[in-house]
Amino acid sequence: MKNRKVGVLIALSLILIAAGAACARKTPSDRDAKAPIVFDAQRGFPSPKEITIRNVTKEEVSYSLVPLGSNAKPEIRKLAVGAIDRVRAVDTMTIAYEKYGREVSYSLYPGKPYSFRYDSGGKIDIWQGSHGRGDAEDLAPFVPTPPEVVAKMFELAKADKDSVIYDIGCGDGRIVVYAAKTFGAHGVGIDIDPARISESKENAKKEGVEKLVKFLMEDATKTDISPATIVTTYLLPESNELLRPKFERELKPGTIIVTHNYIVPGWEGKEINSATLTDTSGTEHTVFVYKK
Ligand SMILES: C[S@@+](CC[C@H](N)C(=O)[O-])C[C@H]1O[C@@H](n2cnc3c(N)ncnc32)[C@H](O)[C@@H]1O
Repeated sequence: MKNRKVGVLIALSLILIAAGAACARKTPSDRDAKAPIVFDAQRGFPSPKEITIRNVTKEEVSYSLVPLGSNAKPEIRKLAVGAIDRVRAVDTMTIAYEKYGREVSYSLYPGKPYSFRYDSGGKIDIWQGSHGRGDAEDLAPFVPTPPEVVAKMFELAKADKDSVIYDIGCGDGRIVVYAAKTFGAHGVGIDIDPARISESKENAKKEGVEKLVKFLMEDATKTDISPATIVTTYLLPESNELLRPKFERELKPGTIIVTHNYIVPGWEGKEINSATLTDTSGTEHTVFVYKK
């Protein structure tokens, strides 16, 4: 298998480490413990008094939860494959599970979505998620692609003014905005997070390319991507794998798929190029190019 990168995991680990350090000063309280959890269906995100934990692995996951700093006995919970645990959480919670034969624990914050996923060594770990919607896949949390990597993606994709770019999970819209500004190409960015779609629209306006780009707030696994000539992703490998049948079904022969850091599992034979580069902060990134 090609040189898999762990950029997102590292970024998330840093977030989790930083989060752990920050929350050590907080103390839990049971105030509002009886208040009903109101799931914000419109945003599809956990309410401020809820944590969602999704199981994106291929096995049942066992873990314990206890409010941070509480002397209470941790509650043991099990999560089936694909299920979402919605936990009432007024304050920070400590989650613990077994990894490499020993217990590891992290702090989880109210109002945030998390997922159990495999790490690059195939072990189950907790990652920050993107949303808590039960009716949609969580393809990856928001981590933006650095500008120099965006430029490399389009250089390798040989984009021009006739390109039609679809960015699956567009974040702040930077990928389609870059292609519109640099080549005059049309682009569609899709993201499930309304905050990201607002940022994308603002960015397009700021760069004066609103007429060339469109942003859709929806589950990208359900969007028709057949008009694309170039598809871009910065998603976790299991998400690229999940999308592969959609690529095979909907994309025209000759469509270029460019992925940041993570391969499309099962498409080894379709890979036509790749490049590794270092961003201004010294982090290495790999771009993979596939041709349908
Ligand atoms: C790693 S970010 C990539 C952002 C952007 N493409 C870039 O490279 O800078 C992944 C994005 O996927 C979005 N996402 C996660 N699940 C999604 C889904 N089911 N449908 C649409 N977007 C989703 C997240 O909200 C997040 O903004």
